[in-house]
Amino acid sequence: MAGMYEKVLDWANDFDHADPEYNERAHEIWAEFQGSECPVAHSDRYDGLWAPFTYEMVHEIAYDTDHFTSQGVVVNTGRPMIEAPVGPAPPITSDPPFHNIARRLLLPPFSPKVIAEWEPEIRRLCNELLDRMGDITEGESIVDGAVEYAQSIPVNVIARMLGFPTEDEALFRDFVHNVLERINEPVEEREEFMQPLADYLDAQIQDHRDNPRDDLTNYLLNVEIAGNKLSDEHVRGSILLLLVAGIDTTWSAIGSSLWHLGTHPDDLQRLVDEPDVMMFALEEFLRAYAPVTMARLVKEDYDFHGCPMKANDWVLLPFPAANRDPKQFEDATKFVIDRQENRHGAFGLGIHRCLGSNLARLELKVAVEEFVRRFPSFTVDGDTRWSVGQIRGPRELPLRVLKTS
Ligand code: HEM
Repeated sequence: MAGMYEKVLDWANDFDHADPEYNERAHEIWAEFQGSECPVAHSDRYDGLWAPFTYEMVHEIAYDTDHFTSQGVVVNTGRPMIEAPVGPAPPITSDPPFHNIARRLLLPPFSPKVIAEWEPEIRRLCNELLDRMGDITEGESIVDGAVEYAQSIPVNVIARMLGFPTEDEALFRDFVHNVLERINEPVEEREEFMQPLADYLDAQIQDHRDNPRDDLTNYLLNVEIAGNKLSDEHVRGSILLLLVAGIDTTWSAIGSSLWHLGTHPDDLQRLVDEPDVMMFALEEFLRAYAPVTMARLVKEDYDFHGCPMKANDWVLLPFPAANRDPKQFEDATKFVIDRQENRHGAFGLGIHRCLGSNLARLELKVAVEEFVRRFPSFTVDGDTRWSVGQIRGPRELPLRVLKTS
């Protein structure tokens, strides 16, 4: 295993979500914790880390901004340099009362109406990616649902929203990989490999100052809080957040949904026969394969249900595990394609609930619809490689196309 730590042998007492085995076996590991007397894992790695796996506990922590701060939301070997209430990437790293101010600034560009206008463009992009796969022979061709398809959709959309060159897509994925997956490397090395991201954002912001245009970066440069423009740090932090929050998350959701359909032919057939079932399937993909786990830092020493948490310990909020808690959902571990009641926590719980959920839902829906329309029958054929760390989804997904439309 790369990074500072050894392979995990004891998930309860030496937990590490950056061990590749974690995302590979996540569903089993969560079920083991949910069935055990103590559903909370602990580790001395990262200078102190806790991970509760029940819906009730994840819900409790997500709503408890008195004991837990959002100043750091991605566990790593260091601690954030910019303190609460603003944090390094507002609003996700902000605490009340500043959080609400920073969040409200971002609501208009992600409103349902503004996002709905992207639908034709996302459909066009999906079809362009499918065309790029070239000649497909039924029963023989293998396409990579993660590399050739899912990974390009959200990155293209967010780059265009921000007004960044779409040719830099690979660079963005690299930046996001550094932020989210290279979490167990020493602090000094992290600072070094994160620098190009900060330099890139500064150059883009300067370019937007020099050549103003109608995009999200321009919006952030001009929007005001109580008559004042945002600080440079706030602008850079929010752009960083949108890049990071907008890419791996939706890429993972699309990839996991295709993985499910490629391993569950009955569900794929149902979607082909009854496209309207997508309305429910979308929410079930999000519940059963929620990609995003977030983190908090403990503000002061705190006894959480008998867990002696120390100030500055990390606490993971595994929303994906909460979504599979049998105490919260009927048939929690089963994918029920037309599940009617589905109050899942894939987009988070509490004040930081996902601001990009309209866009995420649209991208996921359109991506799955267009893939299934083009390839009404396909199967996972070969090894799926899963991401490492807090965002779970396939990074390589070989799919054998059995039928084309
Ligand atoms: C399927 C895809 C996605 C999932 C599952 C997801 C999930 C989440 C979750 C769980 C949170 C809560 C974080 C916390 O409690 O600390 C969150 C927050 C956030 N997400 Fe998403 N997200 C997705 C896509 C997106 C997209 C596409 C964008 C925008 C481009 C976005 C922007 C944000 C922002 C700005 C926040 C912070 C909100 C706040 O702090 O008030 N997300 N997301």
